[in-house]
Amino acid sequence: MSDQKSVKKVTTHVLNEMKLKGEKIAMLTAYDYSTAKILDEAKIDVILVGDSASNVMAGFETTLPITLDNMIYHAASVVRGVKRALVVVDLPFGTYQGNSKEALASSIRIMKETGASAVKLEGGKQVVESVERILSAGIPVMGHLGLTPQAIHKFGTFVVRAREEEEAKQLIEDAKLLEKTGCFSIVLEKIPARLAEEVTMSLKIPVIGIGAGGKVDGQVLVLHDMLGITQEFSPRFLRRYHNLYAEIKGAVENYITDVRSQDFPSEKEQY
Ligand code: KIV
Repeated sequence: MSDQKSVKKVTTHVLNEMKLKGEKIAMLTAYDYSTAKILDEAKIDVILVGDSASNVMAGFETTLPITLDNMIYHAASVVRGVKRALVVVDLPFGTYQGNSKEALASSIRIMKETGASAVKLEGGKQVVESVERILSAGIPVMGHLGLTPQAIHKFGTFVVRAREEEEAKQLIEDAKLLEKTGCFSIVLEKIPARLAEEVTMSLKIPVIGIGAGGKVDGQVLVLHDMLGITQEFSPRFLRRYHNLYAEIKGAVENYITDVRSQDFPSEKEQY
């Protein structure tokens, strides 16, 4: 059997089955071919081409500046490295809010030009019309509630969202509305664990958390944060699995030393 045939692709249907069976979903971000290939071969379930690329790839302070063309470049690179995982792409700021026709056009460009399987967008009832229109073209949509980074200027702070009753009530309503509209999954970011558990239990679709506790259907982290490439970002919910910053810096310092001392290249490393 060819390699292509032996790979069972993760689909939105597979994620639903995982929720039903109580199997946790593992999701990470990726923005390029080589890293996506490693994640896929490690058997990650979902790869998110997040607009966090704006921070960790481009060096911007917020996710607002990244463009649709930038996202398409990252997503197409990721898709070329993936055989198994479901690839979801963030709709960047300004490409879907307040104009459902633009939301559909942006999503169609992502699907056509990248080969990804779904899009993600931030917000609740304000974006329902956009969600409906994207779904009408057969494009799966993942929602994102809680601390939605594209609205950082409205929040004015990165603190935990929905601690107060009114915001928590609104979040529950929005989550139910996104499910009813047809989203296949929702990300909940930086909200109290108890609220995330309540939302997870009240929805049939899988809920993926980031800083939302353990009683959700799956977890997502930004790859550069969990690998320890970024050093300055250290929220309580972040578990660092490596200190790649130190590893890379150490390797580069060794290389510089070897070049300067003419230890590199050696006799064996030349023709
Ligand atoms: O852009 C991103 O990386 C995200 C995750 C934090 C969920 O939206």
